[in-house]
Amino acid sequence: MDNLSSMSDVLGSAEHPLRVAIVGAGPAGFYAAGQLLSSSDPVVRVDMYDRLMTPWGLVRFGVAPDHPKIKSVTRVFERTARMPGFSFHGNVEVGSDVSHAELASAYHAVLYAVGTAGDRRLGIPGEDLPGSESATDFVAWYNGHPDYADLDFDLSGRRAVVIGNGNVALDVARMLALSAHELGQTDTADHAIERLRSSQIEEIIVLGRRGPVQAAFTNPELRELADLELADVIVDPEDLELDPASAAALESAEQTVQRNLETLRTYAAKAPQGKPRRIALRFLRAPVAIEGEQRVEAIVTERTALELAPDGSLKAMPTGINERIEASLVLRAVGYVGVPLPGIPFDERRGTLLNDGGRVLDASSRQPLPGLYAAGWIKRGPSGVIGTNKKCAQETTSRLLEDFHAGRLPETAQQPEALIEQLRARGLHIIDYAGWEAIDAHERALGEPAGRPRVKLVRREDQLLQARVRV
Ligand SMILES: Cc1cc2nc3c(=O)[nH]c(=O)nc-3n(C[C@H](O)[C@H](O)[C@H](O)COP(=O)(O)OP(=O)(O)OC[C@H]3O[C@@H](n4cnc5c(N)ncnc54)[C@H](O)[C@@H]3O)c2cc1C
Ligand SMILES: NC(=O)c1ccc[n+]([C@@H]2O[C@H](COP(=O)([O-])OP(=O)(O)OC[C@H]3O[C@@H](n4cnc5c(N)ncnc54)[C@H](OP(=O)(O)O)[C@@H]3O)[C@@H](O)[C@H]2O)c1
Repeated sequence: MDNLSSMSDVLGSAEHPLRVAIVGAGPAGFYAAGQLLSSSDPVVRVDMYDRLMTPWGLVRFGVAPDHPKIKSVTRVFERTARMPGFSFHGNVEVGSDVSHAELASAYHAVLYAVGTAGDRRLGIPGEDLPGSESATDFVAWYNGHPDYADLDFDLSGRRAVVIGNGNVALDVARMLALSAHELGQTDTADHAIERLRSSQIEEIIVLGRRGPVQAAFTNPELRELADLELADVIVDPEDLELDPASAAALESAEQTVQRNLETLRTYAAKAPQGKPRRIALRFLRAPVAIEGEQRVEAIVTERTALELAPDGSLKAMPTGINERIEASLVLRAVGYVGVPLPGIPFDERRGTLLNDGGRVLDASSRQPLPGLYAAGWIKRGPSGVIGTNKKCAQETTSRLLEDFHAGRLPETAQQPEALIEQLRARGLHIIDYAGWEAIDAHERALGEPAGRPRVKLVRREDQLLQARVRV
């Protein structure tokens, strides 16, 4: 054998690239793919799988429709999708359409970037009454996620209460307050535009169980509430009177917190302009029960006081002072949570895959499982903006490449192409990247006459039809 042909047999050469499956086509999956495809030693090929026919994860199904600029991050991901060695396999759910063991038999490494699709629970009475909904469902519904398109939200009452003080709480409060004109410029799913346009909701109360210093809002999201066409923003000045521990925390807090306080003080000082809707931001109120005969009629909240915990954080403690707020809709925006994948060790406490810096660990030995990785929200939990996933993915892909160089990646038993053939033989309609581009072009063309970025196809059969029109 001459030198050249022996080189070409080496795993990681251009002729014999390292084969990596990435599961999940959201930000973490795409950042990881870009990083791996940029490697020259080893040369890597990436096959990306997603259970949906459309890529981008929460950039398509989470980011609020009235934030189109944020969605333009997909241009970065589109460049990755055009890199040599990249393939997209949409409409394949790992865990049901294909097992992890099957993927592991065909790839040197499998990297999970599946996000955290579940919603955190409050654990209070009445949580499951009709009209008490998770923001997770509401967001997926207005963003046209095919699994949520048949949900419906009763917006016929006058008041909605949103629980939580993160950016998702602000997103859903804003969506409930948008005018027909504001909605009409967005890619909100048509079914949601119809429902939101006929909404009778006049007041949206956003409840934080802790104080304004502990709120997790970011500055632009809090500030932009002032620009809503139809809604005044109401803050009670008393809610901004800080307890000594919060006042001390504010002194040393990041600028984000200090600026939020300035914005909240501006809201508190401003008289309402008499707009037909109101978003009221209230603090130090924890939900204790949701009440109603057949459906939600009210929520009971309890005043809280902040107490220093041993870990240095300020915890919301009950005071015994309750308030009943009548409302027909309660949206719980208290965070997302990871869903276990069959056969992959899961950390129940954190709601993530059991991992160390992106290497998935064996549940009993706590040693890395060769060739198994995680990135994004399923690795570190449901926090951080889109860009946070780049650094997160970098940590994982560095370890993956390190493991390759140390000879720690497993052998494969079959070629990925053989596995993909088997999946097709099972009757799966796998959507490739060109299929997605056909859906994308169709949606954009539908939106253009109305000056909207796109009109989303929310039915799998319609997406399939467009994707296959190309062939
Ligand atoms: C409502 C909301 C609004 C947000 N708005 C903003 C914002 O405006 N700006 C900002 O910077 N950040 C925002 N974020 C945060 C940002 O969306 C996340 O940081 C980011 O999407 C997390 O990326 P990820 O790749 O880990 O997960 P995801 O984006 O959730 O992607 C996971 C992907 O995995 C796929 N998948 C899941 N299970 C399987 C399976 N079994 N088989 C195959 N595929 C699977 C899913 O279909 C999905 O495509 C928002 C988050 C939420 C929840
Ligand atoms: N525009 C944007 O940039 C944008 C938009 C949406 C989301 N995101 C990002 O996506 C991530 C997830 O956002 P998120 O809003 O889902 O989560 P989050 O920022 O973690 O906020 C969750 C909120 O729920 C509260 N909460 C939790 N359990 C509760 C309970 N039992 N009772 C009452 N309140 C409770 C938390 O209060 P405590 O603090 O007291 O626990 C917190 O205020 C964040 O990093 C966010 O910044 C960004």
